[in-house]
Amino acid sequence: MSDFLTIAMPKGRIFEEAADLLREAGFPLPPEFDDSRKLIVDAPEANMRFILAKPMDVPTYVEHGVADLGVAGKDTMIEEERDVYEVLDLHISACYMAVASLPGYQKTDINPKVASKYPHLAAQYFKEQGEQVEIIKLNGSIELAPMVGLADRIVDIVSTGQTLKENGLVELETIVPITSRLIVNPVSYRIKDKQIDEVVERLAKVVEEE
Ligand code: PRP
Repeated sequence: MSDFLTIAMPKGRIFEEAADLLREAGFPLPPEFDDSRKLIVDAPEANMRFILAKPMDVPTYVEHGVADLGVAGKDTMIEEERDVYEVLDLHISACYMAVASLPGYQKTDINPKVASKYPHLAAQYFKEQGEQVEIIKLNGSIELAPMVGLADRIVDIVSTGQTLKENGLVELETIVPITSRLIVNPVSYRIKDKQIDEVVERLAKVVEEE
């Protein structure tokens, strides 16, 4: 147990739930963990170091081995195939990917446009539906696109549904349910297997109990 583990955590709305889960699993995390603007936080008592990254970037840190473990949304895992192991569904930050539009949207064959932060996932979905669409990649505030006429439909995460509602959009189809996953770098798993297994087992126990 000499080596510490480096864990990539997603900043933002998933962070708190993931931190709670780690604490419930008995890993003592420093208080500064929650409020700090620091991007690297050491938790010596837990034998851990945390990298606080943009959610979409967590799999990149883990794939390149600078983090042994990471907490990543299933959305990011579907969007970009990565050479990492997905070892545990943490059952946190549950939401789903959906297609939405302004009310009364009717399918058209003339150059239909779909805006999304998840261009690959969206392209794959419409391909499976046998529909040809142009995908427009945006980095956030996707709901704007139909409102200003950039696209007819969007593919985006729906959590409470509040953002769609407040912007007068309606859901057309559900694509896939999303939760956060624990991911592991394959080389780390070989070298630090005992330590990693312990983290996985302790988290799995908490997840099961909830
Ligand atoms: C996400 C998503 C929706 C919203 C859904 O955006 O893209 O816009 O949350 O949540 P709701 O159903 O609870 O309203 P996020 O807040 O992560 O920011 P973004 O728009 O910049 O991607």
